[in-house]
Amino acid sequence: MIESLILNQLFQDLTDPFLMTALVLIAIHFGTPLAYYWHAKTRWLPKPWSIRVNGNYRPKVTVIIPTYNEARFIEKKLDNIYEQEYPKDKLEVIIVDSASDDGTPELVRKWASEYPNVNLKLIEEAERRGKALALNLALKQAHGDIVIIADADAWWPSRETLKEVMKWFVDPVVGAVSCLKKPADAGVAGIEEGYRRYYNVLRLAESKAWSTPIFHGELAAFRRYLLENLNGFPTDIGADDSHTASRIALMGYRAIIPEGLWVEEAVPNKGYFWWRVRRGQHLIQHFARTLKRIGQAPKEFRVVLAVESFLHLANPFLLLTSTVLLIASAVITHSLTALSILALGAVLLAIKQYRTLIVQQFHLIVAGLRNLWSKEIAWSKQVK
Ligand code: GDD
Ligand code: MN
Repeated sequence: MIESLILNQLFQDLTDPFLMTALVLIAIHFGTPLAYYWHAKTRWLPKPWSIRVNGNYRPKVTVIIPTYNEARFIEKKLDNIYEQEYPKDKLEVIIVDSASDDGTPELVRKWASEYPNVNLKLIEEAERRGKALALNLALKQAHGDIVIIADADAWWPSRETLKEVMKWFVDPVVGAVSCLKKPADAGVAGIEEGYRRYYNVLRLAESKAWSTPIFHGELAAFRRYLLENLNGFPTDIGADDSHTASRIALMGYRAIIPEGLWVEEAVPNKGYFWWRVRRGQHLIQHFARTLKRIGQAPKEFRVVLAVESFLHLANPFLLLTSTVLLIASAVITHSLTALSILALGAVLLAIKQYRTLIVQQFHLIVAGLRNLWSKEIAWSKQVK
C-alpha cells in the first residue's frame, strides 16, 4: 500500500517537467560554487606561491586616494598612510577629489600644512565624473614605480602594510597586488562577515593558482607602466580595480591577493542592500567584459575566469528560475515534492551560511537587472 503510494509519487515527480528542470537547476546552482570552493581549498590553496619575495624592497610608491565627500574619514586615512613604516622620500600621496561639497579638500589642505614632510598633491575636479576618471587624472601626475589605489574609508591596520605589499613586487612576474577585507565595525551586518570569510579563501586560492579576478580598491597596487600600457583605468565600467587586475593577469603577469594582507573597511549601516547591489553591478560589468578575452588567459586563470563569470552572471538566475518552476509545479501539478523543497529552502534560511549565500544571489539578481538601465559609474554615497 505504502509502496504503491511512494511509487505513484515518484512517477508523478519524474513526469513533472517543471519539477525535474528545477531539480537540475538547483543541483547546478549549489553544486558549482561548492565544487569550486572545494577545489580551490584543496588543490590551489596548499600550492606554493612560486614568487620570489624580499621584505626589504623599497621602490618609489604613489598612493592615490580618490575622494567624494569623505570629510568624515579623510584625516584618519591620511594619518593611516603617514604612520606606515616606509621611507618618506620614496612615498608620494595624491588625493584626487571630485567636487566634494562637504569640505574634504579643505581638510586635506589643513592636514598637508601640518605634515610638510609628506610629498602630497591635491587634485580638485570641478565636477564629479566618477572614480575611474579621477584616478586617471591622478595617474598622469604619479611618479612611483608602483601605484596604489587607497579608498578613503578603509584602513590598513598594520604599519607594515606598505612593506608587505612591496615585497611581492621584487619578482617581475607580479603585476598587481591587493588585500583581504574585513568590516571595520564587527557589529555591523553579520552577513558581511560571513560573506567575507568564504570569499577571502577564494581570493587567496585563486591567487595561488595564478591570479584572482577580484581586486579591492581599499588597497590595489599596480606597476605604473602596466597601467600606462592599458591607458589607465576603464572609465565606462564600475569595477576599475578588478578589471585592471584581470587585464594585467591576461597580459601574463600575476595579479594576487596574498595571505595576511588585511584591510578594514567601513560598512554602511544604512543602505547596505543598495551598496551590495552596486558592487555586484560593477563586478558583473567587469566579468561580462573580461569574458570576451578569456581566450588569451593563462591556463589556470582561464578556469578561474570561466567559473567566476558563471557565478556572477548566470548562476543567480538559475536559482530564480528554479524557484519559479517549483512554484509552478506546486500550483499546477499540486506536486508535494515541489512544495516540500520550497519549504525546506525557506527553513534552511535559519542557517547563517546558507542565508548568506541566498542573500548574495538576490543581490546579484537585482544587480544584473539594474545594469540594464543604470551602470552606476558615479554612485550615491552610503552613510557609514
Ligand atoms: N575622486 C572621486 N570621484 N572619488 C570617488 C568618486 C568620484 O566620483 N566616487 C567615489 N569615490 C571614492 C570614495 O570617496 C572612496 O574613497 C572610494 O572612491 C570608494 O568609494 P565608496 O563610496 O567607498 O565605494 P565602495 O566602498 O563600495 O567601493 C568599492 O567598490 C567600488 C566598485 O563598486 C571599492 O572596492 C572601490 O574601490 C570600487 O571602485
Ligand atoms: Mn568604501
